[in-house]
Amino acid sequence: MRVLFVTSEVQPLAKTGGLADVSGALPIALARRGIDVRLLMPAYPGALAQLKNPKIETTLPVIAGVEGGALISGTLPGTGIPVWLVDAPALFLRNGGLYQDEAGCEWPDNAQRFAFLSHVAVHAAQGKICGWNADIVHANDWHAGLVPLLLSMQGRPRPSSVFTIHNLAYQGNFPREVLAQIGVPEHYFSTDGLEFYGQVSFLKAAIRYADHITTVSPTYARETLTPEFGCGLDGLLRQRYGDYSGILNGIDDALWNPATDPHLARNFSPQDLSGKRPCKAALQKDMGLEIAREAPLVGFVSRFAHQKMADVVLEAIRALVEAGAQFVAVGEGDAALEAGFVEAAHRYPGRVGAKIGYSEPLAHRLQAGADLLLAPARFEPCGLTQLYAARYGTLSVVRRTGGLADTIADTTTDAPEGRMAAGFAFEEPSLSALLKALDRALALFGKPLAWRRLQLQAMSQDFSWNASATDYIALYRMLSGKPRLIAAAPSSDSGDQARQAAS
Ligand code: ADP
Ligand code: GLC
Repeated sequence: MRVLFVTSEVQPLAKTGGLADVSGALPIALARRGIDVRLLMPAYPGALAQLKNPKIETTLPVIAGVEGGALISGTLPGTGIPVWLVDAPALFLRNGGLYQDEAGCEWPDNAQRFAFLSHVAVHAAQGKICGWNADIVHANDWHAGLVPLLLSMQGRPRPSSVFTIHNLAYQGNFPREVLAQIGVPEHYFSTDGLEFYGQVSFLKAAIRYADHITTVSPTYARETLTPEFGCGLDGLLRQRYGDYSGILNGIDDALWNPATDPHLARNFSPQDLSGKRPCKAALQKDMGLEIAREAPLVGFVSRFAHQKMADVVLEAIRALVEAGAQFVAVGEGDAALEAGFVEAAHRYPGRVGAKIGYSEPLAHRLQAGADLLLAPARFEPCGLTQLYAARYGTLSVVRRTGGLADTIADTTTDAPEGRMAAGFAFEEPSLSALLKALDRALALFGKPLAWRRLQLQAMSQDFSWNASATDYIALYRMLSGKPRLIAAAPSSDSGDQARQAAS
């Protein structure tokens, strides 16, 4: 089984969030189970610099009007996973962020940049570039959203498409005028195509034309079928219900292993938790806090965004300090929130620390050193920080939504069931609900034996990719045999209708 995994971010080559974690870990789990998987992503400067054994595989013909492109092959650092970087210097070789310039403004040519990624993916998957052809193209998030549409335009036999929604709120919507620049025929601009409230939507194109759609937790899959969480696409998702499923993300349990993590002041494990205390002292020192063993240390490592309730977390700091806790925030995002966390650190010296910016080592040190992790969210497709926290014996306070609801059980109200870590959960996205959950957490922190039992329960949960990689493989197998099923029952397959409409 050959799978081309198309994504904009892969840990450690390029990362702004959890998409990179998933893209850097799921392919490894697939390869271990015998899948011939290749990654395809843009040749950002950081990715070019870190790719192992890079070589120019081939120069690219003019694709979607872009000249001078090349495919650079290599491997993902620390693994044998083959990676293809789509090198188009005019599109990807620039200073600034993956999606934004140094001032935080979206790159004006994002539609062309990521349309090109999708076109190259479809060429590569069909063996038109390197003689390797895929059975499945697994495309992720709006950046690769044109892949399913472009594949649907190809004659059979062709690879099947799986599209994973990591976050329905990021849709890749652009003015109609970009149609001329992204290599998609004009007639696709209809409500039954990729038109979305007068714009071109890469995400809608993906949902409309993918052979199968997944998202990253079962609860988020259900939530996205409702107007409250559907971001305007719930109607289309309901139409595609039979081809839509939720598969819970896993974590890379080698990269996130407190027993071997090179970033930690001391390693520790469920068998010997003693190293967690020096990790706490190190975090307190790093963040300018008093070295106080008995003070509960509450951490927040996150994008500072509305989604993550970062505004509510900021409001909770005062109550936390008054309750005798310490608080550290590591993150970046909304400028007012960044300023707010820095201001809180000044207001409560020795009790509150804030680091604005992105630091992978600090994220690991926070997970190891904190007693509690705040992971509230207005919505959360999966969330990974609560899974890392569990592995590091740090209990999470979460809002019961999306993947948070699927992975964290409230230790005071829920009977632990299935693969869920002990933590604290609340329902309403409000300050008072968050504070009530925090109260319960702080009360339990005062009972060391009970706390230790919960830590060990959390650490013993298997959040690796084992189960979910198997689910993806089952899906790939089902889809690669799908043409026969479609021939038997064409009317029940909306993906096939879409392809017929497109041809
Ligand atoms: P999302 O992808 O919505 O931001 P996830 O919980 O799925 O949320 O993934 C976030 C990832 O980004 C985790 O690996 C987390 O450790 C990391 N992260 C978030 N902010 C920072 C930061 N400031 N520094 C380092 N890592 C961060
Ligand atoms: C998105 C979501 C997050 C998820 C991650 C990886 O960024 O916001 O919930 O964990 O993708 O799938």
